[in-house]
Amino acid sequence: MKRTHHCAQLSKSDLGAVVSLLGWVDTIRDQGGIIFVDLRDRKGVTQVKLEAQDDSALAGQLKHLKPESVIGITGKVVARPDGTANPGLGTGDIEVVASELEIHNLADTPPFPLDDAGGDKVNEDLRLTYRYLDLRRPKMRRNLEVRHRATKSIRDYFDAQDFIEVETPALFKSTPEGAREYLVPSRIHPGQFYALSQSPQQFKQILMVAGVEKYFQIARCFRDEDLRADRQMEFTQVDVEASFVTREDIYALFEGMLVKVWKDVLGVDIPRPFPRMAFKDAMNRYGVDKPDVRFGLELADLSETFRYSSFKVFQATVAGGGAVKALNAKGLADVTQGELKNLEDVAKSLGAKGLAFIKVEGGEWKSPIVKFFTEAEKAELARKLDMADGDIVFFAAAPWEKACAILGRLRLEAAQLLVKRGRMTLRPDDWKFLWVVDFPLMSFDEEEKRYVATHHPFTAPVAEDAALLDSDPRAVRGQHYDMVLNGMELGGGSIRIHRPALQKKVFEDVLKIPSDVVESRFGYMLKAFTFGAPPHGGIAFGLDRMVALLCGTTSIRDVIAFPKTQKGQDLMAQSPTPVTPRQLKDLHIATVQPE
Ligand code: AMO
Ligand code: AMP
Repeated sequence: MKRTHHCAQLSKSDLGAVVSLLGWVDTIRDQGGIIFVDLRDRKGVTQVKLEAQDDSALAGQLKHLKPESVIGITGKVVARPDGTANPGLGTGDIEVVASELEIHNLADTPPFPLDDAGGDKVNEDLRLTYRYLDLRRPKMRRNLEVRHRATKSIRDYFDAQDFIEVETPALFKSTPEGAREYLVPSRIHPGQFYALSQSPQQFKQILMVAGVEKYFQIARCFRDEDLRADRQMEFTQVDVEASFVTREDIYALFEGMLVKVWKDVLGVDIPRPFPRMAFKDAMNRYGVDKPDVRFGLELADLSETFRYSSFKVFQATVAGGGAVKALNAKGLADVTQGELKNLEDVAKSLGAKGLAFIKVEGGEWKSPIVKFFTEAEKAELARKLDMADGDIVFFAAAPWEKACAILGRLRLEAAQLLVKRGRMTLRPDDWKFLWVVDFPLMSFDEEEKRYVATHHPFTAPVAEDAALLDSDPRAVRGQHYDMVLNGMELGGGSIRIHRPALQKKVFEDVLKIPSDVVESRFGYMLKAFTFGAPPHGGIAFGLDRMVALLCGTTSIRDVIAFPKTQKGQDLMAQSPTPVTPRQLKDLHIATVQPE
């Protein structure tokens, strides 16, 4: 039997036609000898009517038929009897009266319901164990289609912009500067290892030296990170590099890409240009470098208010160079004890010593700390924080970045509590794209007592700051940019260092990497740069994150066909697994089990 139509195709205009449909049994209803099957394929559903005489061969076949069995039918398209049409279904006006049934495979009863609503309630581990069934659900199939549309749109876009896609190796060398890597033992070189590529960063820069000028790649990347909803060990980047470009060129290029993808996939027009925000402002106002600007609840800085306060906790923090920041969670004074405890735990998990607050209720300030404030301090608080009845204000006194980060998290938690109470709406399709710019080139790692690259060591300093590299590295801004959408970091990149002397200086003098280590890790790159490296820059976007947002989900596992669990396992194929002693021997590897 050959398919003539798919299961979403037939309508009243096909009445009388003899058709063949192939697919899966979605549902079966037995109405006294007449069997109605909703037949499903990847396009949709058609109702099929099967009538069998009691002792016919067809009746024998039908007895075994269960949902999810794979069948083919041939039959005639007829109108559904009056009153039985299903307006909720594209093919709801017709049904196919089958004259022939071919059973390709009977199915066991699936371990969970395969409709969207039913499947959503199921434990994710079960869905991942039977991923092939999970992917039959309409929602998951749609996610895969959106991913395909987005990827195609991106490829078309870069092709039209005269970029070429170049594949770079997955087996690279170990460069422990970035995220933790996956190592791959070499059989031919005992005791030596490849590392799986964390990103094509070094290769794409080398491609610029090679004169490719405009490179892109839909690239698989590997990082041995702790997994979360927005992080997988294996993920995909839209990776781009171009020569003779400025930051403005990259902004324009990627805004163009996003506008096209949103139009192609969702039919939505995104206005350009996208707003930009300096890293410092993002931290000061939203407490995070990837602010969700769909809502306000901005942080305030009260360091000056409390510089000479008699409340020692705040005064001492400011005296020590730290900051006192506050967040007015407007309308959340009715926070429950449990919720407040939870907020305090969140704050403490980020290093807060406590969580001071002021509730405004019935014209009164209720707080364990107001008794320490002067009238002038109170007046300034009320003004700076726009305090009104029903509000609750949280404080964080700590080093500036920590104080910002604590309240940045509380801001998101508070928003969720306000959403729960129906006092705020956060629409996933309220697309607030934002460039975050002017990051510091270096940050000081307190644990390692040395500077580390904020983004990566290839990022160029802002030209007018470069002179400060020796005297005050912390003040140097990098030509780095991040693309943020609704609180998610979608992508990041930079204009790169293209002069070998400056690159060497950053490695050795600023990052304090010993010169022999620089030579063994990056020597080939520095060498390449001596043969005519053009000025260049680029960016990489997390394709999984972008598709997740397009699909309205917050978990990238929902848009990856076969993702790993939070514990890094493939529950379907059951990986990772031990290997045989023989395999290990060939690879010159001995393993040690942890105690
Ligand atoms: P970066 O490390 O910021 O930059 O990565 C770029 C983007 O890749 C996505 N991403 C991830 N997505 C899913 N799971 C992960 N574990 C994961 N890690 C990163 C994010 C992130 O914004 N080579 C540079 C880019 C450049 O400078 O051009 C780079 O890799 O969306
Ligand atoms: P204490 O004087 O230590 O009892 O603190 C008084 C109040 O301030 C308590 O509600 C603490 O939770 C809170 N608090 C203490 N340290 C900080 C801090 N660094 N930032 C914000 N609140 C704090």
